[in-house]
Amino acid sequence: MTGKVCLIGAGPGDVELLTLRAHRMLQESDAAVYDRLVSPEILALAPPSAKKVFVGKSPDSHPVPQEKINEILADLADEGHTVARLKGGDPLIFGRGSEEAAYLAERGIEVEYAPGITAAQGAASASGVPLTHRGLATGVRYVTGHRQANGSLDLDWKSLASEETTLVVYMGVANIGQIAMRLVAEGLSETTPVMAIANATTPRETRLYSELGRVALDTRDAGLKAPVLFVIGKVVTLSAEWPQAASEFLKMAEVPCATGLQAHA
Ligand SMILES: C[S@@+](CC[C@H](N)C(=O)[O-])C[C@H]1O[C@@H](n2cnc3c(N)ncnc32)[C@H](O)[C@@H]1O
Repeated sequence: MTGKVCLIGAGPGDVELLTLRAHRMLQESDAAVYDRLVSPEILALAPPSAKKVFVGKSPDSHPVPQEKINEILADLADEGHTVARLKGGDPLIFGRGSEEAAYLAERGIEVEYAPGITAAQGAASASGVPLTHRGLATGVRYVTGHRQANGSLDLDWKSLASEETTLVVYMGVANIGQIAMRLVAEGLSETTPVMAIANATTPRETRLYSELGRVALDTRDAGLKAPVLFVIGKVVTLSAEWPQAASEFLKMAEVPCATGLQAHA
C-alpha cells in the first residue's frame, strides 16, 4: 500500500511553537525527512523507531539537491511509509514545500499539510517588535534576499521601498549591503530602523539594532551568521531595546511613546 507525505512546518526553533497538528502527524509517522533548521527537540518527538533522513545543508556535507529530496520522499511513500517531511518555519514560505507537493501529486502520492510559525512571526514574538502597528505600518512584506542562479537579486525595489510597510528579509545575511543600498536608492532614509535577529526563538538568539545606512557593517562587525532575519521599518522603534526610545517615528505617528514602551516593558 502506498504511504503518504505530511508536509510539516516545524516553526522557527522553539519546540513549544509546534502546532498540535504538526505534533500529531510527527508522532504518527514512521519516517522523518528533515532540514537543518529543524531543532533536535522537535525531531525527538518522532517515534524512536522512525527512520530519520537528514537532507539539509550543513558545514560538513554537500546540500542534497531538490530533485533528490523529491525522489527520497516519493520512494519512502511508495514503500508504504507515512513520511513526516519536516521543514523550518512554514513549509509554504520560502520552504519549497509547494514544489515537493507538486512532484508527489504528479505521482499520485497523498500529501497533507501542517502549517508552521514562520521565522518572521517567531522573531516578532521573541523580540516584541510587531510586524504591523497602527500608525507605523499598514502591512508587511516577506522577501528573499537570496540571489538567483544568475547572481541577481531580482526584487521590485521601487515597491519595496515603502515607509508605510514593514519589510522582512529572509536569507539576506550575505547580501544585506546590496539590499540596503537599493532600498536607499529608491527613497528609504538611511536612518530607517532595522532589527537583525539570528536564531530567533532558540537559546542562541541574538538581536542587533541598526539603521539601513549602516546595517551591513553592523551585521559584519557583530559576526551574525545564518539563520538571520532582517526586519526593516518604523515598527522596530517599538522594541524596548531600541536605542532611540523617544523616537521621531513615534512622534510623527502621534502614538504616545509610553504606549509603545509599556507594551514591551
Ligand atoms: C529557506 S528559508 C526557510 C524559511 C521558513 N520556511 C520559514 O517559514 O521561516 C531559511 C531562512 O529563514 C530565516 N529563518 C529561519 N529560521 C530562523 C530563525 N530561527 N531565526 C532567524 N531567521 C530564521 C533565515 O533568513 C533563513 O536563512
